[in-house]
Amino acid sequence: MRSTSLPYCRPHLNANEILAAAECLREGWLTTGPKVKEFEAAFSRACGVEHAVALNSCTAALHVALAAMGVGPGDEVITPSLTFVAGAQCTMELGATPVFSDIDRETLSVTVESLEAVVTPRTKVIITMPYAGRPLDIARIVEFAHARGIRVLEDAAHAAGTLDRGEWAGTRSDAAAYSFYATKNMTTAEGGMLVTRDDGIAERARILGLHGMSKDAWKRYTAKGAWRYDVVVPGFKYNMPDPLAAIGIGQLERLPSMQAARDALARSYLDGLSELEGFSVQAGPSSIGDRHSWCMFVVKVDPRVAGFDRNRVIEELSRANIGSSVHYIPTHQLSAYRHLQHAPLPETDAVWEQLVSLPLFPAMSESDVDDVLDVLRRLSDSGSAGASLPAALAQ
Ligand SMILES: Cc1ncc(COP(=O)(O)O)c(C=O)c1O
Repeated sequence: MRSTSLPYCRPHLNANEILAAAECLREGWLTTGPKVKEFEAAFSRACGVEHAVALNSCTAALHVALAAMGVGPGDEVITPSLTFVAGAQCTMELGATPVFSDIDRETLSVTVESLEAVVTPRTKVIITMPYAGRPLDIARIVEFAHARGIRVLEDAAHAAGTLDRGEWAGTRSDAAAYSFYATKNMTTAEGGMLVTRDDGIAERARILGLHGMSKDAWKRYTAKGAWRYDVVVPGFKYNMPDPLAAIGIGQLERLPSMQAARDALARSYLDGLSELEGFSVQAGPSSIGDRHSWCMFVVKVDPRVAGFDRNRVIEELSRANIGSSVHYIPTHQLSAYRHLQHAPLPETDAVWEQLVSLPLFPAMSESDVDDVLDVLRRLSDSGSAGASLPAALAQ
């Protein structure tokens, strides 16, 4: 057992980023201001998309994007069930109905075929999610959706760092929402960014994200600002504060080096796991120019093969002082969403029980990876003897 605990994730803020946030606090610009503008411009340049709207979470970005796309009562929004609840939650907040799509068991993301099974004339938006940061075949999904007059919104929470045929994931659909939550590839503590090439979506999202005000409220407090404003639509209070944007500017600059660290750790996991019985991993990227962001490193434990199940892996890791997580309990199984009708989701129902996310963050060492692999190796050795296979699973 390790003498120090290895957390599932640890954010990586350097001295410059902490100083930049402190500078905002010292200067007294606490809410949305010049740092947010600078962060938006830098993000837009980095991903190559005209509009980048900084908000206080990815959930906020999904919410204003769906609203800006005109989602309302009577509409359906397709979302994977194997994702964080944010997309379904925002759909319901707008009075529309979330429709759960199954996923491909290898990529853990939706496919055109799984979408085809649930699309209806009421479908207004399809939310896709590149699971763990593995690029999905977004071009095919966009073609499928646009042929039916449906918009595609990417939940790109895991995708800062994901490349889709050489371009940032999130740049080929109607809009994408990134997350800067503490466990993501870049963080602002809490925060999100909506990117879109669509002028109308960008303008509506900006207005909706700040109470529905007709122009940037922060300008009212500058020398050139005027006190008068109008509220043109009931909106939300979703603006990003400047101290967080200051952190984001530094994190974005360091994204390539943090990504390189994730790549190396993921390679070590993949090498180690290739020798172990009982564990499999998500299918790798499939096109030239693709890159997995390794926002999460997820292994699948099929108890029929392994002789032990996912829960046992979590317990053994915890006993060895190592954190882990599960992404995700499918949304259709959560209390607040269980009442929603849905098509059969056999892949989701089967695969989520097998998933465990291992520790992965840039400051982790190779020896940390070895500690995790040691636990899995011990389990694999014991499982191959079939010692811990519960009777119900052995049938
Ligand atoms: C797939 C996915 N979507 C959306 C979110 C929500 O992000 P945020 O916490 O920035 O609202 C998360 C956060 O964990 C996520 O993993």
